[in-house]
Amino acid sequence: MPHINKAVPNAYQYFPLNEPSIGTCTSSEKEVPALFRPLVLRGTEFKNRIFVAPMCQYSSDNGHATDWHLVHIGGFATRGVGAICMEATSVVPEGRIAPEDAGIWTDTQIEPLRRIVNFCHAQGTKIGIQLAHAGRKASTHAPWVQRKAGSGAPHTASEEENGWPNNVYGPSNLPYADDYPSPKAMSEQDMDDLERAFVSAIGRCERAGFDFIEIHAAHGYLLHSFLSPLSNVRDDVYGGQPLENRMRFPLRIADACRKAWPHKPLFVRISASDWAEGPEQDEAGLWRQWDIEQSKIFCGELQKLGVDLVDCSSGGNWAQQKIPLKHGYQVHFAEAIKQAHPTLAVSTVGLITDPLQADSYIRSGKADVVSLARELIRSPHWALFAAKKLGVAVKPANQYERGWY
Ligand SMILES: Cc1cc2nc3c(=O)[nH]c(=O)nc-3n(C[C@H](O)[C@H](O)[C@H](O)COP(=O)(O)O)c2cc1C
Repeated sequence: MPHINKAVPNAYQYFPLNEPSIGTCTSSEKEVPALFRPLVLRGTEFKNRIFVAPMCQYSSDNGHATDWHLVHIGGFATRGVGAICMEATSVVPEGRIAPEDAGIWTDTQIEPLRRIVNFCHAQGTKIGIQLAHAGRKASTHAPWVQRKAGSGAPHTASEEENGWPNNVYGPSNLPYADDYPSPKAMSEQDMDDLERAFVSAIGRCERAGFDFIEIHAAHGYLLHSFLSPLSNVRDDVYGGQPLENRMRFPLRIADACRKAWPHKPLFVRISASDWAEGPEQDEAGLWRQWDIEQSKIFCGELQKLGVDLVDCSSGGNWAQQKIPLKHGYQVHFAEAIKQAHPTLAVSTVGLITDPLQADSYIRSGKADVVSLARELIRSPHWALFAAKKLGVAVKPANQYERGWY
């Protein structure tokens, strides 16, 4: 029998075939730790529970992905994660956080994304994209530009800095902070237009070949700002005290996205808390900030619409937020949502670095998935290190095997 370096079938270039796929646990079935057990959502199988959290790169060329993204995302695809979620990608130009953010508002943005998707698929790794609108936190500087500008410099990117401060929208006209753009309150027409933009973006995601979509409803960006009573003081059916009103527009977007993307997994990233002072609800029953009780109700509504996974983050909507940072500081939010909605898949994120703790979150049913951002920047091979720590064997890429055996 001839010995041949087998190719990935039907790939656009020659790539050696990994058998089994990179990141698959090769220990006996009963030894496979929770972290490395496959997860199936809406018929899509994720080979393990370690996901790359979305990470803005502020490196797009008028919204188009570049070779930076191919290398950055491709590097994760070759190193054993179960899935990668590409960064916040705006469905309209004015929905970018910063001028160099990713976009999916026009067809020319499909091809560079398709190249990245095809590469990830050739490495046996699932890839999704986070669809976003930055709302009142749009038209700001990339972090390193802000740092260079100095501590007192405004966050707003002016027109001469390639920003669009006069074309920034929110639920109300409240800015996130004094040095952020002043948003215009969205009209119903604006909302209709944006819903259409999300649906058009989904058509482009389909053409690019993504495996899943995540709607960004966290971190103080547009949809989160609709949910929170701190940022949404509208007096129409889309705002104010009633939770039903504040959820209305985010749920409309989720519903439209679900209908436009019926066959593959749909995720929603939420902020489970604004981390503002005081109780979520006061003694008179008034909602004061966004927190876990409303998050649980919102997640229940998302599940009814057919959302497959809630990616549970927190913060970003209240400039004075105080977050007690420690390993897994957001796990209790995921756990609370999981308890309220046991059949809804939940991902937890935030300062997860230790493989034993990560595995325990899944084993104990607090979450179904762990998402990592900064630890994977520092240690892109984290999944393989995690396997070592957990005492099991996981398949590295053929080309990298000599680093592990
Ligand atoms: C460089 C960088 C860019 C980020 N960009 C996004 C983003 O596009 N969308 C998002 O929802 N969160 C974004 N985040 C937040 C991460 O997805 C993650 O929730 C957060 O960093 C906490 O996880 P970690 O402690 O593992 O880094 C970003 C974080 C980093 C470090």
